[in-house]
Amino acid sequence: MLTERTHKAGELRASHAGTTVTLQGWAARVRDRGGVTFLVLRDRYGTVQVTVDERCADEVREAAKGVRQEYCIQVIGEVVERYKPNTEMATGAVEVIPTALEILSSTRPLPFTLDEHMDAHEETRLRHRFLDLRRPALQNNIILRHKAAIAARKALDALDFLEIETPMLTKATPEGARDYLVPSRVHPGHWYALPQSPQIFKQILMVAGMDRYFQIVRCFRDEDLRADRQPEFTQIDIEMSFCTQDMVLRAAEEVVRAMWGVAGHDVGEIPKLTYAEAMARFGVDAPDMRFGMELVDLTKTLSTSTFPPIQHALEEGGIVKGFVLEGGAEGNSRKVLDAWTEFVRGYGLGGLLWGKVGADGSVSGPFGKVTAEIPNAAEAMGAKPGDLVLVGAGAENPVNAGIGRLRVHVAKEKDLIPAGVFKFCWVVDFPLFEQTDEGAWTPMHHPFTSPKPEHLGHLEDGNLGAILSDAYDMVCNGSELGGGSIRIHREDVQQQIFAALGINEQEQREKFGFLLDALAHGAPPHGGLAFGLDRCVMLLAEATSLRDVIAFPKTARAQDLMCGAPSRVHNEELDELHVKNLDR
Ligand code: AMO
Repeated sequence: MLTERTHKAGELRASHAGTTVTLQGWAARVRDRGGVTFLVLRDRYGTVQVTVDERCADEVREAAKGVRQEYCIQVIGEVVERYKPNTEMATGAVEVIPTALEILSSTRPLPFTLDEHMDAHEETRLRHRFLDLRRPALQNNIILRHKAAIAARKALDALDFLEIETPMLTKATPEGARDYLVPSRVHPGHWYALPQSPQIFKQILMVAGMDRYFQIVRCFRDEDLRADRQPEFTQIDIEMSFCTQDMVLRAAEEVVRAMWGVAGHDVGEIPKLTYAEAMARFGVDAPDMRFGMELVDLTKTLSTSTFPPIQHALEEGGIVKGFVLEGGAEGNSRKVLDAWTEFVRGYGLGGLLWGKVGADGSVSGPFGKVTAEIPNAAEAMGAKPGDLVLVGAGAENPVNAGIGRLRVHVAKEKDLIPAGVFKFCWVVDFPLFEQTDEGAWTPMHHPFTSPKPEHLGHLEDGNLGAILSDAYDMVCNGSELGGGSIRIHREDVQQQIFAALGINEQEQREKFGFLLDALAHGAPPHGGLAFGLDRCVMLLAEATSLRDVIAFPKTARAQDLMCGAPSRVHNEELDELHVKNLDR
């Protein structure tokens, strides 16, 4: 019979000796040693050993024999100090000697063991997420997530932000991904879009005088998935009125301090880099600042080079950049260098100019051809005898991407990144637009981001690439935690931006008429940002996949393997929705 629980398994200590306790949980381990049964009982709060031996009544010993791993059990018994404490267990000073033991529910054969070091395939684990989530490591991640979310809520509440819900069945919000669409039964041929973010609604809440808004909110994006992306994910979404950029950054920092505080980390001062500086020093807009190896621009130093890859790159208006791996002249075989060359080729570089600096300062490898012509080339990078230089030449984007990513790749491979360290930075002053491969202009953030006021003129002169915006990203350990901007609060400027993006007036009205109307009715200056809660928790938990911090995540192919979504629906249901399957 189920009795009220008196204690949590994980809380029992020597001070509880002599107490009668009622515990409920799962048999994490079952060992039978010559008539003595050792059970490890696990609940959300930890584990404790339950020992069934000659001190127990016959029916208890009989019941214990029936217990298998992951059976759900109830134990009533006395806490006693262990003869030999187990220092590996938080509750290792004690054991529970049951006076009653009941199997509350049994299990079918387990598809995998819940051992922390188990090597079960992730698909099997996701299919049986109810078992997977019993693992303490995952439970701890979920607990951490809860605590981080509560901490963020409290911090924002203390700053007068109101938590306001916005619609899930709505209209497209352009955040750069495809929409998930929901057909309307009532309006044949009409569709809702699930929000890629609450961007427009939160801006309208500012026009509506709410002053400060936040929401811990699910967002939906149909995009190619990676380890740090999920099709549905959670944002801590923030917007405020009458704010300078600095005010938004300060509020956001409070949130991050609160969340990292949960795990006992002090965030410290957060440095600010411009986008241009981040690209120059790290080649990427989300720099990992836990280690050095910053990029050096050799474009000027090598301007007279006749070495074909460099000369060619410079003639085409390209750049030359690289970094130094200290002491790397030794221990990096041709095979390693070939693999790194392949790595940068993946980013569109023709190859990798590597050079090993010998004891006498001479350079071997492809970069040796450069130093033969321009003797101070390696020195200009700060390389010393015994170092390895890794250099890329070509168009600006592939050089920055290839060499910037190689910097992190090499640091990981060489174990140069300190563990348990969080290095934050703000990246500010992003370009407003970027050009697609086809030459069209798209917003770098989203089309509601304000250009820097002093750059507004370029909207008229058409020099769109030169416009900087009031957008900012918060980066931690090379990962974008969040991003936002000061918004356009004038209808005419918003229309100008839409026009620059090739959105004609009719389309502007169709897609964003409600925003334009709101902006035309006394909109306050406003701005905000959104953090990816999943990404924050992934970093905090030092997990390697978002799936480890989301209770019911999707696979890389956007499936929920446990419930089997997405799935087919009956044609009658589709008929009601006025939708037809093409393969019907
Ligand atoms: P943005 O698109 O930069 O901005 O998103 C904000 C943050 O959300 C997280 N994120 C994701 N996390 C997991 N899976 C995904 N697919 C995914 N996509 C984004 C990232 C990112 O930094 N409306 C704007 C915010 C604003 O301007 O206020 C927006 O959504 O951590």
